[in-house]
Amino acid sequence: MARLPDGDVRNQNPGHMMASVPWSAFRAGAMVPGLFALAIVAGCNTAESADPAAHGKRVFTDYCQPCHNPNAGGNADIGAPAIASLSEWYIRGQLEKFQEGQRGLHFDDIEGMRMRPMSLALQEDGEREVVAKYVAGLPAVDNTHTVHGDLEAGAKHYVTCSACHGPDAKGNELLSAPSLVQQDDWYLERQIGKFQKGIRGANPTDVTGLQMAPMANIIKDEHATQQVVDQATKDVVAYIKSLSNQ
Ligand code: HEC
Ligand code: HEC
Repeated sequence: MARLPDGDVRNQNPGHMMASVPWSAFRAGAMVPGLFALAIVAGCNTAESADPAAHGKRVFTDYCQPCHNPNAGGNADIGAPAIASLSEWYIRGQLEKFQEGQRGLHFDDIEGMRMRPMSLALQEDGEREVVAKYVAGLPAVDNTHTVHGDLEAGAKHYVTCSACHGPDAKGNELLSAPSLVQQDDWYLERQIGKFQKGIRGANPTDVTGLQMAPMANIIKDEHATQQVVDQATKDVVAYIKSLSNQ
């Protein structure tokens, strides 16, 4: 039952789908120190199947912690966001999207391509579910805010967003809209940009991504310069983060 007989994560993946993944990035850097070493020792522990919490924790430690950090508070240097306390349904759903290539396959999606192979490492039944539950149960990590903007302008933009993400930006499962308020501001800004550029939410099978993408374009006035769009994006993100103080 050893998962990675020679420690090469590519063994976990259907090779033809992985052609675009920049493997050199993994090998070259200290980007994921210990990941391969940890993965080698990961085995199938039958006692854990009776204890989903322990199983979830082990999957997290083996496969997620190297990038998202032990507290799941993320690592901005490699573009891995805080995932602690995100809703279980959202984490599970996004892992599934990464696994199916609805997210993280676009050629310009550098960070998505970093995450996708990790989702593919979850090959045993129930791993996605137990790790989603474990991460959802971790306390939220509020990293330093780095995106600044005009809160008043941001509040105006956010009126549209609140229809799905809620006035408190805590999300709405019935609409598949995730909580935004505890998410890293740099990550929110980057994701809105990805939706605007068609890097995320453009795959025809990505139903909920397709719902979100036009919303990101609402703040992208057709006649506006990129600079104006970027500022409007910062404004709405700064406003969303200001809700975390309330
Ligand atoms: C090699 C580094 C790496 C590893 C290991 C990794 N991730 Fe990620 N993860 C990322 C990056 C980078 C992103 C941001 C992708 C983007 O910008 O679209 C991400 C994004 C995510 C997201 C999307 C969050 C959101 O709000 O949309 C979830 C959920 C996630 N990771 C969960 C996990 C889980 C669970 C594991 C372990 C099974 C894991 N990740 C392992 C790098 C990693
Ligand atoms: C019609 C409902 C709807 C509206 C309105 C909406 N969103 Fe979303 N949003 C979604 C859905 C659904 C998702 C999840 C997409 C997925 O599953 O990949 C999402 C995802 C996101 C994400 C990605 C979060 C993450 O953790 O990766 C961001 C950021 C976001 N929305 C910001 C906004 C902003 C800003 C606005 C207003 C300009 C907005 N949304 C308006 C439905 C909506």
